[in-house]
Amino acid sequence: MRSMCCFSALLLLIMAPVVCQGGNILVFPMEGSHWVNMDVLLQALHSRGHSLTVVRSNKSWYIKEKSSYYNTITVSVEKAVDQKFIQKVIYEIMEYERGASRLVYLFHLIVGMFGTFLESHELLGGFVSALLDDAELTTYMKDSKFDLLLTDPCWGGGAIVAKYLNLPLVYNARWLIAGDAHLAIAPSPLSYIPVTGTRYTDRMTFVQRVNNMILHVITQIQLSWVIKDVYQKVCEKYLGPDCDYYQLMIDADIWLMRTDFVFDYPRPTMPNVIYMGGFQCKPAKPLPQHLEDFVQSSGDHGFIIMSLGTFVSELPADLANEIAATFAKLPQKVIWRYKGEKPDTLGNNTLLVDWMPQNDLLGHLKIKLFVAHGGTNGIQEAIYHGVPVVGIPLFFDQYDNILRLADRGGAKILSLSTMDKDDNFLKAIQEVLTEPSYRNNMQRLSRLHRDQQLTPMDNALFWMEFVMRHKGAAHLKAQGNRMPWYSYHSVDVALFLVGALILLLFTVFFLLRCLCAAVCKCKAKRD
Ligand SMILES: *[C@@H]1O[C@H](CO)[C@@H](O)[C@H](O)[C@H]1NC(C)=O
Ligand SMILES: *[C@@H]1O[C@H](CO)[C@@H](O)[C@H](O)[C@H]1NC(C)=O
Repeated sequence: MRSMCCFSALLLLIMAPVVCQGGNILVFPMEGSHWVNMDVLLQALHSRGHSLTVVRSNKSWYIKEKSSYYNTITVSVEKAVDQKFIQKVIYEIMEYERGASRLVYLFHLIVGMFGTFLESHELLGGFVSALLDDAELTTYMKDSKFDLLLTDPCWGGGAIVAKYLNLPLVYNARWLIAGDAHLAIAPSPLSYIPVTGTRYTDRMTFVQRVNNMILHVITQIQLSWVIKDVYQKVCEKYLGPDCDYYQLMIDADIWLMRTDFVFDYPRPTMPNVIYMGGFQCKPAKPLPQHLEDFVQSSGDHGFIIMSLGTFVSELPADLANEIAATFAKLPQKVIWRYKGEKPDTLGNNTLLVDWMPQNDLLGHLKIKLFVAHGGTNGIQEAIYHGVPVVGIPLFFDQYDNILRLADRGGAKILSLSTMDKDDNFLKAIQEVLTEPSYRNNMQRLSRLHRDQQLTPMDNALFWMEFVMRHKGAAHLKAQGNRMPWYSYHSVDVALFLVGALILLLFTVFFLLRCLCAAVCKCKAKRD
């Protein structure tokens, strides 16, 4: 009996760490390409024994309802930011990018697109309301006793749900509704931190710094507009009239940033910001046989891959023909991820595919070049494997992403509006293929990126588990985030000190004058 008892105790002891380790995580993701990298995190969390529940709308097109590694909470909505919505936005932006001058393009992006931007967040606000209005879903969420809410703050709903359920909050972040997430919590001198969209490096001329400031102010106005118009209202409705959404938003426990200082420019940061740039990168696995055969048939010339990302599956026909014709002139083999109509000019060295194992191809010995649109996932994989890039940025942060590689000598940037003129595309490809510095620079970035104590993924997992173990990371949150701007920048103190100094000077001046007058009077009397 006794030994039995001991045995059970022993068993319990062995089991205990396993039982404790499995956390229960609620995930409030963003759709589209952002889901792709969230999904990588979720698979890793699942393999560590955590249980995952993903909130999605019944119109989600990336987030599947059934999965082997997560449960779902599906919210029914009439309208959502779905495929149709995003596709419309993207083709509109591409049209402008191709046709208009940079100024018109920027104006369109800032003013013209703002309505669409606002609309997408309104749909999200509606989504959060639908979730929290559903008594069955909220009871289910409360009963599930989650340990953590993981969200992408590019969509602002996660912070509200976390507060509603009183859960520690971890961000899988790069953007915070509008603009770089750093700008909301870390000191960010605009003198050397280029705002995304400016297309500047960290070395700016005076005029560039002026533009940088202007774009920053515009972005901040847009941000506060969206917050006031959408999230603050939802916040007040479900969390009480005293709720301040901005405060809630920047109060996350840990910010897992999808960047690092091999990719991005060095800048001030905060204790609860953890860099996990490249967390999705893995050593290459062997290719499927048909791809391996195709790649091997390239001989010593090697091969090129081209992908314009998850959103753009088709290009205007004339552009697709131009690209295909250029590829046909090359001795390399080309694998092109493309879903549109087969271009007439397609050469027999080019393979069109619906999908490709990008990471495995980039890690292949024969890869020579990556023609990319500059999405973060692809850029990080190019850094990890040290493959030079010809970038064709289409929208959002893509130009700025490729610029960071180009600035380090690892990439060449083309614009959609000029790539089909004067053989620009062919020239860029040939330059990057023949000039060894491009490859050497990317290999250098790759070595720097890989030389870390922990892999970015292990680091991210550690911090999420840390937050679950300690029920948050309040000790890492700086007080500065809770101060009004005038206290944060010590404007009140400066005004007080200047005031005190002026008062003191006045007093001294006044006393001296009195003294002078007294002395003069005295003198006059004696005389
Ligand atoms: C999602 O839910 C809404 C509201 O209940 C319904 O009208 C719509 O048809 C549903 N959509 C899908 C794709 O199931
Ligand atoms: C591909 O096309 C080129 C020129 O058009 C031709 O010389 C070559 O034999 C073709 N290769 C194959 C495998 O068909």
